[in-house]
Amino acid sequence: MTTLLIATRNAHKVGEIQAILGTSFRCLTLKAFPEAPAVVEDTATFAGNAAKKAVELAQWLSDRGGQHSAGVDFVLADDSGLEVDALDGAPGVHSARFAALDQAENSQDADNNAKLLRLLNDVPAEKRTGRFRCVIALAPVAKDRVEAASPVCYADEFAAELFDGACEGRIQFSSSGQGGFGYDPLFVPDGFSQSFAELGETVKNGLSHRAKALAKLKEFFGRNRT
Ligand code: IMP
Repeated sequence: MTTLLIATRNAHKVGEIQAILGTSFRCLTLKAFPEAPAVVEDTATFAGNAAKKAVELAQWLSDRGGQHSAGVDFVLADDSGLEVDALDGAPGVHSARFAALDQAENSQDADNNAKLLRLLNDVPAEKRTGRFRCVIALAPVAKDRVEAASPVCYADEFAAELFDGACEGRIQFSSSGQGGFGYDPLFVPDGFSQSFAELGETVKNGLSHRAKALAKLKEFFGRNRT
């Protein structure tokens, strides 16, 4: 069975990824690797940040050698966020620290949501469209690295495979619901009248941006096993 390291420190994301992947993979989290380096998400795109996280951690695990990598075959990293059309795609890659863009640390979900509502104060219902977007990056962990491998082989070894997903919807005028995380209490997916936070885990995990990206990842493994 393929072993994945889910490389995110966001416990909600880990929970969703594990629930969506089900039992078809053995999933480890960063709790198994407390000494893993923190990766700085400083690129301008979801794909860039996801690939950076997956590749840097795969490289770190590979450098530790086979017996210290707990059987991890691939590192899986998720970078995601909310794009709002009336804000020209913001908060986008800055979704996690939207309330305080000058800070390096993530902001509280409540503060991010309050800022979003404030910026959309005068925007009417029909213009409050947007989407959650997710890019999942998958980078292989080298098991028996040959020290003298050429730089070309080394680079190839850590290239990440990317899988993306988007979920279209609209932003409510106020929060509702207790489930989920982040902007879930404000986001109503197309075809529904309740927020992700009200719809709950099972419905969200059937149609979310993350579910769509992970469906592509499962297809990829299906294709490459045959
Ligand atoms: P990341 O950990 O840098 O990818 O930040 C992702 C941020 O985007 C989170 O902190 C949330 O604010 C937001 N986000 C991403 N996915 C979701 C979701 O499924 N629901 C609600 N908010 C999300």
